[in-house]
Amino acid sequence: MTTKKSKSKSKETTTRKDKVLLEVKNLTTHFFTQDGVVKAVDGITYNVHEGEVVGIVGESGCGKSVGAMSVMKIIPNPPGRIVDGSVTFEGEDLVSMNEARMREIRGNRIAMVFQEPMTSLNPVLTIGRQLTETLELHQGLKGEAGLDKAEELLDRVGIPEARQRLKDYPHQFSGGMRQRVMIAIALSCDPKLIIADEPTTALDVTIQAQILELMQGLAKDFGTALVIITHNLGVVARYADRVLVMYAGKIIEEGTAEEIFHNPTHAYTRGLLASVPRLDAEEHVRLQTIEGLPPDLIAPPPGCAFSPRRAMMGDYDCSKATTDLVEVSPEHWVANCPGCIEK
Ligand SMILES: Nc1ncnc2c1ncn2[C@@H]1O[C@H](COP(=O)(O)OP(=O)(O)OP(=O)(O)O)[C@@H](O)[C@H]1O
Ligand SMILES: [Mg+2]
Repeated sequence: MTTKKSKSKSKETTTRKDKVLLEVKNLTTHFFTQDGVVKAVDGITYNVHEGEVVGIVGESGCGKSVGAMSVMKIIPNPPGRIVDGSVTFEGEDLVSMNEARMREIRGNRIAMVFQEPMTSLNPVLTIGRQLTETLELHQGLKGEAGLDKAEELLDRVGIPEARQRLKDYPHQFSGGMRQRVMIAIALSCDPKLIIADEPTTALDVTIQAQILELMQGLAKDFGTALVIITHNLGVVARYADRVLVMYAGKIIEEGTAEEIFHNPTHAYTRGLLASVPRLDAEEHVRLQTIEGLPPDLIAPPPGCAFSPRRAMMGDYDCSKATTDLVEVSPEHWVANCPGCIEK
């Protein structure tokens, strides 16, 4: 088996044609609180290629949002700080980048879509104004040209009678439509990467599917890479090319969506999969939940952090395991805990 440390080397020698757009290496973000140091993101390493859709999954509190906010450098400081690692985007290191340049990157190259559009949209400005504002700022489009582009974007995200709707305010849109507007705003700066943090959690399942299909389609059409953060492994299996599974601030499994879905290797990934409804499951199969709670990130258990919750039988003591990733099949990596890896 190969270990993660040799991963980037082995990837360079693969035949993958796509260029690496985002390269996150050993990214470590801690919060320095009165109760102690919260190790929210604890040494994560992954790549996103141009035009690729990557899903990041894991239970609440495992560090998905803090990981994304670290890439965007919007971690509240204090108490949070990136304490180690690098984030290389289009060849530039974001961790050491000054705030002025970082603002340009955030506006033009990487866009973020958040869970609750009502808090991201300005309630007293029309949708048209909010779109034309970004278009003027980022693409220099003014007046009629800005309105035309705004209409085109709303149309692109599936809002009917787009020209007319530019005059409406956010409260006149439904939740799903507001999320579409947020995606239109994200697209307005023509980014290379969109990070969507639980973009559909607040919506009902039919609308969720529509929004995700839309985002997937746009990513393919525009060649935009997409990182979708969700706690729902069913969502990423369907819409992502590649999946990263996070547990207690670390990536514990990574692979193509196909591999993760059909050949989940870590006990935690299998637990997550068993807890989502599957279309291909036999009838009356009971959904399972993963017993126990995610660990305290101030004092995580030694070795494999999943050890206290591992339901598998066996005499291996996970607390002695390392958390290095090993390659189990091409492009499929898993945390090397012998007790948690399916043999
Ligand atoms: N401002 C903060 N101060 C202290 N701890 C924080 C702060 N923000 C986040 N954390 C901690 O960092 C850890 C990771 O949080 P994060 O928000 O990334 O989780 P998540 O995976 O996005 O969860 P969810 O699915 O609920 O959105 C959690 O333990 C959380 O309590
Ligand atoms: Mg989150």
